[in-house]
Amino acid sequence: MKILDLKDIKKKQNYEAIKDAAAVIKKGGLVLFPTETVYGIGANGLDENAVKNIFIAKGRAQDNPLILHVSSFDMVEEIASDITELEYKLMDAFWPGPFTIILKKKDIVPSVVTGGLDTVAVRMPENIVANKLIEYADLPIAAPSANISGKPSGTCLEDILDELGPKMDYIIDGGKCAVGIESTVVKVEGENVRILRPGKVTKEDIETVVSSVILDEHIFKDLTPEDKVLSPGMKYKHYAPSTKCKLVYSNDNLKMVEKINELSSKYDSVTVICSNENQDKYKGMNVLTYGSKENISEIASNIFTLLRRVDETASDIVFIEGTAKEGIGIAIMNRLIRACSHEYIEI
Ligand code: TXA
Ligand code: MG
Repeated sequence: MKILDLKDIKKKQNYEAIKDAAAVIKKGGLVLFPTETVYGIGANGLDENAVKNIFIAKGRAQDNPLILHVSSFDMVEEIASDITELEYKLMDAFWPGPFTIILKKKDIVPSVVTGGLDTVAVRMPENIVANKLIEYADLPIAAPSANISGKPSGTCLEDILDELGPKMDYIIDGGKCAVGIESTVVKVEGENVRILRPGKVTKEDIETVVSSVILDEHIFKDLTPEDKVLSPGMKYKHYAPSTKCKLVYSNDNLKMVEKINELSSKYDSVTVICSNENQDKYKGMNVLTYGSKENISEIASNIFTLLRRVDETASDIVFIEGTAKEGIGIAIMNRLIRACSHEYIEI
């Protein structure tokens, strides 16, 4: 198994080495690669068989479509049709970056990519390794987040090497992903932009470009596989550790801490995931910190790795401090509510 270390790439000050990985993509193989959001399992997005292997490697439901990653607007136009002015405006504003837009698909995109939908999700990543990989492969790369379906997305190679490594044909180690949660997914509906999955590009960010931005009602809601939703991925169990997790939030910090202390008294062994500021407020519990309350981006970048660590603690239960549902906090809470299988208390 070839693992290309980003340190080697940086040392050489050129990206030639990524051409090996691009060749693997061209031949129909699977490449684990970094993006600014999370790692992706990449394959030739126009090759039906290569894409099928992504679904097998992840154990992913067939009706949950993938994002095609591009490095140029020419590539967008190769896979999408009838692109509107507003859609171009959004792509211009937020690309390259953690932003995915749903466009009308062209026939060239195999239906296995889009789960049979007539639309295709498209993103131009900012991460230089991801960008070069697509450019050298010279084709759109289909890539879901790197994790076995249902588990937290991989934000560093150590977290996913055991579960995915043996299934990959090539691995690029790009260190820790800067953002740490997956891209914002949007769909344009007439004059409105609907956010299907919140991410680092926030509602407020999008409002600088277009006046009407709607947060889809499913962002915080419980869904079943029978529910019809605009973003099929939202209905599946996600991010969940095997250990039972409960999310607790109050905008009154003291109340939140008291509630977690009160609830934890029923259990023998408890883990708390909390802010740095609160770490000394939980006695007799195993404490994991996700960063400072003052730095919401830091929390976003740590949350998936922490969710992966909770099973190692062998606790009866894990309490997680919520964040305010504003800005990037909306994306964090969307992931945490799912990680806790909707066990959520707000006081
Ligand atoms: O940051 C990211 O977006 C990462 C990195 C690797 O780029 N990728 C990622 O892919 O998170 P994935 O497959 O884990 O999530 C894609 C989401 C799913 O919720 C899926 O249902 C939704 O995008 N999606 C894909 N195609 C869609 C479509 N045509 N219509 C609506 N939703 C779509
Ligand atoms: Mg995913």
